[in-house]
Amino acid sequence: MKLGLIGHPIKHSKSPWIHQQFLDQTGIKGSYQLIEIEPNQFEENIKKLKQTDWDGFNVTIPYKEKIIPYLDEISSDAEQIGAVNTVVCRNQRWYGYNTDGLGLVTALKDNFPGLFTGGRSALILGAGGASRGIYYALINENFSEVAIANRTISRAENLLTLNQGQIKSYALSFKEAEERLSQYDLIVQTTSVGMVPVTDQQVIDLTHLKLGAVVSDIVYQPFWTAILKDAATRGGKVHHGHEMLVYQAKHAFELWSGEKVDVKSILSQFNCQ
Ligand code: ATR
Repeated sequence: MKLGLIGHPIKHSKSPWIHQQFLDQTGIKGSYQLIEIEPNQFEENIKKLKQTDWDGFNVTIPYKEKIIPYLDEISSDAEQIGAVNTVVCRNQRWYGYNTDGLGLVTALKDNFPGLFTGGRSALILGAGGASRGIYYALINENFSEVAIANRTISRAENLLTLNQGQIKSYALSFKEAEERLSQYDLIVQTTSVGMVPVTDQQVIDLTHLKLGAVVSDIVYQPFWTAILKDAATRGGKVHHGHEMLVYQAKHAFELWSGEKVDVKSILSQFNCQ
């Protein structure tokens, strides 16, 4: 199978390493290559790519929206999210999917199944591209409410339009989120705050964190972000950012190959420092 990743910049991507392990696990012969595309050469490179014999590829920043006009079909989830991170190629036809939010939800279900049994309350921090897929995935689970807090509240309010009335949902400021933090069982941090090189910052104060609440950060460098360290000292349960990375890759690989793959050995190789 000929697989790859398009994006810019992608030199430090861990995806080739992850997908090589899935190829080894399934015994499928193939490769996963990095295809770095300069922003001013996107269209010509995509047109060339369409003439080649790729079986599938991932799409990352800044092309998750830009790829959509070049697809032949798009899943209804990806269409509503407005972003595609996985393309399946069959007979020169391209099929687009989004496995990011699903990846996070599957990871949380494997680690904290009790969150999904009904009646739990979730708070998302951030309202950018990453938050959008996660919000879409969470509102389609069994939560009593899913709130979104963002520095720019209007962006959080815009995300609420994805909710077709299936769940109680509202936007709030970070200050309001801090004040009512004790009502949430799950907090998902989706902003870039805390990411290397500025690792001493956290997007909200966790003083009122509910005992036993799960705090999930999608930032995976460093492994222990400031907000996760803080959550652990306050009796919270932590969920590290590399899990979403590995689970979105699992779902992508399963779409390409039709085989089930296991993430345990890959997760255990992440640096826990
Ligand atoms: P991504 O695709 O990674 O989500 P994005 O669409 O640029 O990137 O969104 C970045 C998110 O991080 C936004 O929620 C942004 O808040 P604003 O909408 O107010 O800009 C948030 N963010 C980035 N830097 C931040 C900071 N220093 N403090 C608080 N929020 C920040």
